[in-house]
Amino acid sequence: MIQEPTFIAEVAMSDTPNGAAPLLPAGDTPVIATENLIKTYKMGDTEINALRGVSIQIYRGEMVAIIGPSGSGKSTLMSILGGLDKPTSGSYRLDGYEIARMSQDRLSDIRNFRIGFVFQKFNLLARSSAEMNVALPLVYAGVSSKERSQRARAALELVGLGDRMHHKPNELSGGQQQRVAIARALINNPSLILADEPTGNLDTRTGEEIMALFQKLHREQGITLILVTHSNEIAAQAKRVIAMRDGEVVNEYTNAH
Ligand SMILES: Nc1ncnc2c1ncn2[C@@H]1O[C@H](COP(=O)(O)OP(=O)(O)O)[C@@H](O)[C@H]1O
Ligand SMILES: [Mg+2]
Repeated sequence: MIQEPTFIAEVAMSDTPNGAAPLLPAGDTPVIATENLIKTYKMGDTEINALRGVSIQIYRGEMVAIIGPSGSGKSTLMSILGGLDKPTSGSYRLDGYEIARMSQDRLSDIRNFRIGFVFQKFNLLARSSAEMNVALPLVYAGVSSKERSQRARAALELVGLGDRMHHKPNELSGGQQQRVAIARALINNPSLILADEPTGNLDTRTGEEIMALFQKLHREQGITLILVTHSNEIAAQAKRVIAMRDGEVVNEYTNAH
């Protein structure tokens, strides 16, 4: 039933880091497909079953919210989807390619060039300007300093911070800092953005502005977006919602917009 993805993976890896070309045409192959993902943390003698068999599929261009109470396994799932952590067992195919069989080098290429991460706590470098923070992923990609600067400026303009290039994080509001983090996540033209409670540290109105920005990016750039939240109002803005509880998917539904 599952097609062998070798060819797809080769195409994926031969793409240039900043190439915007999609790995696969929009269609029936999910960007993300997990089957029976299990993650067990061992702490001394106790085992914590953070994921107890999660099977989900997410298609190109979708905007999906993952919702659930604290401790339900949302962040654990996001870490695995982003290649930051490995499952204890189960299958995870990203763009058709089984992550468990991928070398560390390939995995870090995918993390660096295919996936943009946005976190609750912004995770910006405190002493660096907005421009430097946004350009950082390009340093690892070996892009020249002139091009880094041009692309960082364009990304900051896209998120509405064209006039804040040289501000440091402590000279920016929370919402502006999150915009910088979003610009950083976009800098390599990723095919997938993973955002873990991106409005969790923001007041309601600023959170709404950040959601409007995500909506715009999703609509205008066709980015596949997976967003973790424990707010029903935010989940209502996504096309599809996956609800988790105690390490399991307990509900999936589509919002009528
Ligand atoms: N690194 C870890 N070591 C041990 N237990 C963990 C670790 N990360 C998460 N957990 C546990 O796994 C469960 C799921 O956590 P998490 O995925 O962070 O949930 P959520 O993001 O939905 O709040 C919780 O019981 C949490 O305490
Ligand atoms: Mg969490």
